Amino acid sequence: MSGLRIEVLGAGIIGLTVADELARRGHDVTVIDPRPARGASYAAAGMLSPAAEVWHGEEELLRLGLESLRLWPELAGRLRVELRQHGSLLVGADAGDLQQVDRQVELLARHGHPVEPLDRAAVREREPTLARVAGGALLPGEASVDPREVCAALLQRVPVAAAPRGRTDVTVVATGAGLPGPFAGLVSGVRGEILRLRSDDPPTRTVRGWSAGEPVYVVPRGDGRVVIGATSERHDGPAVVTGGGVHRLLGAARRLWPAVDRAELLETTARDRPATADGLPLVGPSGVDGVLLAAGHHRHGVLLAPLTAQLVVDHLETGRVDPVLDPRRPMEGMR
Ligand code: GLY
Repeated sequence: MSGLRIEVLGAGIIGLTVADELARRGHDVTVIDPRPARGASYAAAGMLSPAAEVWHGEEELLRLGLESLRLWPELAGRLRVELRQHGSLLVGADAGDLQQVDRQVELLARHGHPVEPLDRAAVREREPTLARVAGGALLPGEASVDPREVCAALLQRVPVAAAPRGRTDVTVVATGAGLPGPFAGLVSGVRGEILRLRSDDPPTRTVRGWSAGEPVYVVPRGDGRVVIGATSERHDGPAVVTGGGVHRLLGAARRLWPAVDRAELLETTARDRPATADGLPLVGPSGVDGVLLAAGHHRHGVLLAPLTAQLVVDHLETGRVDPVLDPRRPMEGMR
């Protein structure tokens, strides 16, 4: 089926990627957003790290993330954006943190995922700027992109309007943490505060670490820019950057990467991640005729964008829905 008139609500990385894929399949698509690419995608670090980001109980996310990671080279090539493919490094600052890394390595090994455990010296050999870590593990095959660059490229390709334009055959709701009307209760905001810095001594690859019990990540762009993230907090107020958040992130990062002390702090940002009750996104029919959801991606919007686009298009063409992502599934309690 092609030639449908479709409005995609939300010009974040999910809405834009879905819109681009729909347009490629011959549909007449407009994206509706008064502030394109200024939501969660604006804050996101852009880790394409399904294994570095996985935790116990999130095995479905690992499967989905690996599937989507395989789609990224084609998407990045089409958009002419840089895809940094240096793998990710899991690290622990001290012996207690290393236990967390070991548990994650065991989980990944159980799923047959390639992971190379590294002692302190081996980490420093690969990343000399991580002077203080107790050890870690290398996850080859993982990558990163700059989500702002990706969104800017997508905005060159799809028409965007500030408000809905009238009759449509299909509406795709991709408005992140702010879902409209009947869907509002399906996601809740989880505030993430994130820092952008410039350094002469950045790590060469994404570092996902435990630091005195705090999770933290350091994502280098390749030109000296580095992203440090992220806090994670359910709240009812506006997503603002707090002194405590900045303090915690810098403290956790500098135990792993001491060069943070010399880095120039460029920007602090806070946005709400859109979290669902069961931690999995909502992709497919909403239960309202002609309305699909592509929402609730929580910490994984950038990684899962190309898979989400493919699933939305497949659903329109074949009616297929991935049952674990079906927005009509029953969900219990917020995590
Ligand atoms: N995916 C990283 C974060 O949500 O902080």
